[in-house]
Amino acid sequence: MAWCCLSQIYYQRERQSSDPAAPGPGPCSQAPGESPQLGRVQGLCPTADQLWPHRQRTARADTGAGSWQAMWNNITSCTLWRLSPSFMASRIQTLTPLFIRNYKDFCKNKHTIWTLRNSLCQVMKKTVPTLKCNTIPHRFLSNKARYGQYTKTFPVLDGSIPSVCEHVFEENLRNSEACIQRYSELLCKVSKGGGENAILRHTQRNKKLLVRERLRMLLDDETFLELSPFAGFDLPYGDVPAAGCLTGVGKICGVWCVFMANDATVKGGTIYPISVKKQLRAQQIAVQNRLLSVYLVDSGGAFLPLQAELFPDQSHGGRVFYNEAIMSAMKIPQVAVVCGSCTAGGAYVPTRAQETVIEDKIGSMFLAGPPLVKAATGEDISPEDLGGASMHSKVSGCVDHFASSEKEAYECVRNIILTLNYELPPEETLEYDDPLYSAEELLGLAPRGYSYTLHIKPGSHFVQLCSQRSIPILFLQNTAPHAPEPTSLSQAEDHTNRLKAQASMMAAVACAAVPKITLVIGGCYGNESYAMCGRSFDPNFLFLWPNARVALVDSKHISTFPQARDDDCTGDDSELMHLKEKLEEESSAFHSSARLWDDGIILPQNSRKVIAQCLTIMKQQKYQIASLQHNPVIRL
Ligand code: COA
Repeated sequence: MAWCCLSQIYYQRERQSSDPAAPGPGPCSQAPGESPQLGRVQGLCPTADQLWPHRQRTARADTGAGSWQAMWNNITSCTLWRLSPSFMASRIQTLTPLFIRNYKDFCKNKHTIWTLRNSLCQVMKKTVPTLKCNTIPHRFLSNKARYGQYTKTFPVLDGSIPSVCEHVFEENLRNSEACIQRYSELLCKVSKGGGENAILRHTQRNKKLLVRERLRMLLDDETFLELSPFAGFDLPYGDVPAAGCLTGVGKICGVWCVFMANDATVKGGTIYPISVKKQLRAQQIAVQNRLLSVYLVDSGGAFLPLQAELFPDQSHGGRVFYNEAIMSAMKIPQVAVVCGSCTAGGAYVPTRAQETVIEDKIGSMFLAGPPLVKAATGEDISPEDLGGASMHSKVSGCVDHFASSEKEAYECVRNIILTLNYELPPEETLEYDDPLYSAEELLGLAPRGYSYTLHIKPGSHFVQLCSQRSIPILFLQNTAPHAPEPTSLSQAEDHTNRLKAQASMMAAVACAAVPKITLVIGGCYGNESYAMCGRSFDPNFLFLWPNARVALVDSKHISTFPQARDDDCTGDDSELMHLKEKLEEESSAFHSSARLWDDGIILPQNSRKVIAQCLTIMKQQKYQIASLQHNPVIRL
């Protein structure tokens, strides 16, 4: 009913603005033979005559530009009242079954009017800008469409696949399916954390919740963006599922927050070099996007056999604690929950957070645990007495909140977040256009090879325009390893110009002060990957499709690189073959993601969802206090 009343008002406005003398809508009448109309309510809808001022003239698409526009006008009138498809078909003779199907979807709110228009253009093989949309009330238009009334809309690419390319599409599809198979198997393996025994020890003996159950209690919903789940897979020092800690961005009380949560089923949540790298990357995302951070700490500290790769250097373990202070000084709040046994490095994170919650009988913190105390002093002491929840909340003051259960601890975090005085971004009211094509088709477009498609000069100009206009940039990267050797002077000149253009694009990308997201859809090879905002150019987020290849050189070219062989390499066929296989494996998306050269592998069909999520996350900082404060909050 509400919809009809609103439509009535729009209808009257439309009529009055186009013809002030036109009578208002009368009682609903149904012409003989007309199908019942969707959404019409007796007494509120216009008559068929009012609705079809030119009803004697049935529009045809093939009789010139005027009729073409007239047909569109008729369609928009139909869509305004959501008339039944058969009624519409009787009015407009040239409608195809495809368009009628799209129209039905539109009536079920599956499409916007804009998508409907695009589909009509496709059916009629017309370009979109030839159709004006002045008969559609604003209510049915997306924001883009509203602007579209004043500016030219962009032409829609013809998405049909030429028959000569169909076999490429098929091969890409088969390759994507194989890559996705590997992706699913690996994800299943990673989701088991440290394995069945460790899970039993964690849940039965230590009476703790699994890390994903904790996240479920903490976050508003399960639509969080998980980062790098394949980190730690098949490393030289073994498999470390998800690097022993889950990181990502999720909503807590409506606020997007970065979370870092140890998985204690993986070697007691101890920190491997890859775990440090994963936490540092999560902190970097928090800083870059000014996101509040929450740490769920359940960690035995450094994984001691690898201490030399964990302790001494600038980007080793200590950097996590350093960042906590810097983030606090930048007014990025950090909240920690002590939800397990936290020893040494595991105890530093919560004591440096701005507010810390500890779980009774589950959380404990000490620099050295009871076994070490026994060894050093001969004293027997329980973990609870040495560094349990009561001790730290009553005696040491290392924590701020005592929670009697896991559930209470996460409720406490939510309360803390509500006291931050954060301004929440307004509820999204934008309407978006649906994609013209199914997301599944991306599987056939995920390339197995690469080609020189990058026009560096216009690219550099484009990046500067986006930067000037504060428009976020999405880089869809598919770059080639190296240009073929020049065989003539003119080719050598081309190479030189290309090099200069690359330098200019790299400078433009590096300096563009707008959010940047990179999605590697094919090759991430050589210099051009920098110009397309590779990892070293600091995109806010960087994801790979499972088919992506990441390397300086392509394994197919290995024989043309004699300098790639080391001194021991005799260059015979078997060694070259071995080198080729090694390079092949090292260029896979999984190899890259295991080492955190990216923020994770995403499926092509999920790209739109993930990118939209990243854009919303990045937008949040507009609503937060961004001023630099110079002193961190320190616990004394
Ligand atoms: N370095 C390397 N491995 C460690 C480790 C460490 N600091 N702490 C624990 N582990 C390993 C254990 O050897 C065990 O390996 P396994 O599964 O192959 O047998 C696994 O992690 C789980 O340890 P376990 O003690 O059986 O589990 P738990 O859940 O009862 O206790 C801890 C986990 C972390 C609380 C406990 O192991 C502990 O206190 N570790 C010592 C922590 C420490 O002193 N850290 C100092 C770092 S500077």
